[in-house]
Amino acid sequence: MGSTDALDRLLVTGGAGFIGSAYVRDVLGRRDGTRITVLDKLTYAGNEANLAPVRDDPEMAARLTFVRGDIADPNAVGPLVGRADAILNFAAESHVDRSILDPAAFLTTGVVGVHVLLEACRSAPGQPRFLQVSTDEVYGSVDVGEADEQAPLAPRSPYAAAKAAGELLVRSYVITHGIDAVVTRGSNTYGPYHHPEKLIPLFVTNALDDRPLPLYGDGLQRREWLYVSDHAAAIDLVLRHGMRGETYNVAGASERTNREVVSLLLEYLDKPWSLVKQVEDRPGHDRRYAMDGRKLAALGWQPTMSFEKGLAATIDWYRANEAWWRAARSGEWDDWYLRQYGQRLATATSALPPGSGVVD
Ligand code: NAD
Ligand code: TYD
Repeated sequence: MGSTDALDRLLVTGGAGFIGSAYVRDVLGRRDGTRITVLDKLTYAGNEANLAPVRDDPEMAARLTFVRGDIADPNAVGPLVGRADAILNFAAESHVDRSILDPAAFLTTGVVGVHVLLEACRSAPGQPRFLQVSTDEVYGSVDVGEADEQAPLAPRSPYAAAKAAGELLVRSYVITHGIDAVVTRGSNTYGPYHHPEKLIPLFVTNALDDRPLPLYGDGLQRREWLYVSDHAAAIDLVLRHGMRGETYNVAGASERTNREVVSLLLEYLDKPWSLVKQVEDRPGHDRRYAMDGRKLAALGWQPTMSFEKGLAATIDWYRANEAWWRAARSGEWDDWYLRQYGQRLATATSALPPGSGVVD
């Protein structure tokens, strides 16, 4: 397939999650002719409320179908793939810390689920395009320079390994079975509707409640931050104009240490640094992610949101949507929090404040 805009019937798996729902809201808002079916298992991270802005607009709501189901279930997947022009696979278990404690679901969704989707594409009469949403974490820790798309895959967490395995399956189906697929590798994404287990929403919501902020290790790990609507736009561009079989880095180009992120968010919230607690590090913690984004820039994309503005917009959203994040911090949340942070916070120390000799 060459590039085309005529992809009107989309199947979006994981479309009730953070980035998938941003994609659905964005594309239904921008493209009148597009109809989307969301297939989502609604794990602890999935939330139909993330699609409320679409549901609340009768015109957009008429172009959205929601199906609760598992991408690893061929009976759920087959008929939906058969009716789609393209499939975008956002579905995944997405949290590194959970992959350390409970890796099995990462493999079921990230490997078996991808395989089921690929098999369905292979037997679909219309030869739909398949886009696999992947991550910069497949490169492992990039201590110097930037990883381009040719860099070796060197995942270091069970999450990243499952994502790398999913990508390799996609590659094999392109080569062996001739399916039309593309892969995107996005950097750390942030913005509204982000589940509060991840760094930025966890620290914002903890700080709003004056709870401690558990910073892993020395806090000098570096991430490249990407605003969620920029990530969604990049995925749509690759879907429509990416070359068959190719992989595209989606690089946020806003590299910050975790200490810098925390310092900025506390300043914006007007909360004290004394909330920050240095806790036992994550095992195998990747020190730095950094990608070369030139291949996607050549296709016509670059991030539009600065980190400072994006962080402010994100914090404003969490302030205005307390009911949303309190609901996400209910159910299994307390058990999870105790397991992940109970011992860590019991043995925490105060984190050295900015400007106290730590090289930020
Ligand atoms: P998320 O955890 O917010 O959402 C994942 C969604 O997938 C949820 O709605 C969940 O219910 C659904 N899901 C999980 N298992 C499923 C299954 N077996 N069948 C159907 N649905 C299932 O994750 P996210 O942050 O929105 O990430 C979306 C994708 O982007 C993932 O593939 C992730 O690896 C990738 N990614 C995320 C980031 C990031 O910083 N968040 C960065 C780069 C790439
Ligand atoms: P996270 O949002 O989990 O994304 P990822 O691990 O996929 O990059 O974490 C971002 C960074 O923040 C990472 O270096 C780990 C760190 N971190 C903490 O220091 N404390 C926390 O409680 C969490 C969740 C993350």
